[in-house]
Amino acid sequence: MDILTNKNVLLGITGSIAAYKAADISSRLKKEGCNVRVVMTKSSELFITETTLESLSGNKVISEDEHSSTLSNFEHLDIAKWADIILISPCTANFMNKLANGHGDDLLSTICLAFTKKIFIAPAMNPDMWNNKVSQSSVRKLKEADINIIGPNYGTHACGDIGYGRMTSPEQIIEDIKGQNKSSLLSGKRVLVTAGPTREPIDPVRFMSNYSSGKMGYEVALAAKVMGASVKLISGPVSLDPIKDIKIEYVETSEEMYQNVMSNAKNFDILISTAAIADYKPANYSKTKYKKYENNISIEFTRGADIISSVSEKYKDLFTVGFAAETDSLKKNAEDKLIKKNLDMIVGNIANHELKLGFESDFNKVTIFTKEKVIEIPEAKKSEIAIKILNIVAEEFSSKIGLVNKNVK
Ligand SMILES: Cc1cc2nc3c(=O)[nH]c(=O)nc-3n(C[C@H](O)[C@H](O)[C@H](O)COP(=O)(O)O)c2cc1C
Repeated sequence: MDILTNKNVLLGITGSIAAYKAADISSRLKKEGCNVRVVMTKSSELFITETTLESLSGNKVISEDEHSSTLSNFEHLDIAKWADIILISPCTANFMNKLANGHGDDLLSTICLAFTKKIFIAPAMNPDMWNNKVSQSSVRKLKEADINIIGPNYGTHACGDIGYGRMTSPEQIIEDIKGQNKSSLLSGKRVLVTAGPTREPIDPVRFMSNYSSGKMGYEVALAAKVMGASVKLISGPVSLDPIKDIKIEYVETSEEMYQNVMSNAKNFDILISTAAIADYKPANYSKTKYKKYENNISIEFTRGADIISSVSEKYKDLFTVGFAAETDSLKKNAEDKLIKKNLDMIVGNIANHELKLGFESDFNKVTIFTKEKVIEIPEAKKSEIAIKILNIVAEEFSSKIGLVNKNVK
C-alpha cells in the first residue's frame, strides 16, 4: 500500500514535444494503483494520440472537442470533484502562464480553477521560455497558490539549447508526488550531503581517484529536498547535472572536502556522507611530471584525514550517516565503522567495479546499520534506494532528538 494507491489522478497533457512521455507517466500511475483519467489540450493532440492514452490509462480520454460537443455542461466541475490529485505533465509555458493568472478558457484550465486539492505541474519548455521574466513571475505566483512545480531539469533540449526547461523524468515525477505527500518528514531540517570521488594529485598531469560516479549522493540530496529539507551538496568531480534548488559546492581533493565539511557542519542537523573520499594521498606532490624511466618507480602515500570521524567527534549533536563500500565482510566492516567512528547510521554496500556492483551503476543494493537495527534494502534504482534511506534517516533522527530532549528535562 503506497501513498498513491486508489487515488483518482487527473493527468493533464499540454502541447509540448515531451507529450509522448505522458504515456509512460500514465502507466506508472496505474502501476501505483491510481485511477487515471486524461484530459488533453487541443495542441497536445498534435503530439500524442488519444488511442495510446486510452489503452494505458484504461479510461476514455476527455478531449477539448468531445467536452464541448457531448459532455454535460457541468463536466468540468464533476471531474474536479472526482480527482484527488491533478498532474499536468508536460506543462507548456502557455499553460503554466494561464494557470498562474487564473484563466479558464479551455477544459483543462477550467477544471484546475474548480479544483481545491493538490495540483502538480511538470514544466517542459525551451530554456529561454523558462527564464522569461513572465514565466518566472508565474512560477512565483504558482508557488504562492500552493501549486507544486516539479523540475524542470537542466540539460540539452530537442532544439539544441542547453539549460533548465527539460521535463523531469516520469519516474522522478511519480517519486516527487509521493515525496511531497509526505514532505513533512524532513521539513525544516538542514541536510548536508557529500558525493562523488576525490582526486589526489600525484604530479601536474596525474591523480589518484576511484570509480564513484556521485549518482547515489545526488539522488540522496534530491530525495532529502523532496522530503522538505533544505539541502547543500558538497560534490567531488562528477559528470552529473546540478540539481535545482540545491546549493552545490565543488571540491577536488580529500583535503578540500575535509575543510568544506568541517566549516559547513555546524549549520546542519544531518550529515549524509556518500562521497568516496580517498583514504590515502601522495606524500609528496611532484611539481614536474614523472618521466618515463626504464625501471619501476615508487610513490609513497600517507593517510588523509578521516572526515566523518572528525565531524562526529566535534559536532556531537549532528546526526551522522556514513556510507561503507566494501568488497567483502560487509556486516562486520560496516558495524565496526559504526562504532569506531561514532556514527548514527551506516549504509553499507558491496562495491566491485569488475562485477558492476554499486559504482557507476544506476542500481544498488544496500544494508542499513544503526546501533539497534539491520535493514536490508533489495536491489533497486538509486533514486528509489535514496528515498528508502531518507525515510529511515528521518525516523532515526526524530527518535534521537526525542531522546536528547528527554535527557535535557
Ligand atoms: C513542434 C513543437 C514543439 C513545441 N514544444 C513546446 C514545449 O516543449 N513547451 C512549450 O511550452 N511549448 C511548446 N510548443 C508550443 C506550444 O505547443 C504552444 O504554445 C501551444 O499553444 C500550447 O498550447 P497548450 O498549452 O494549450 O497545450 C511547441 C510547438 C511546436 C510546434
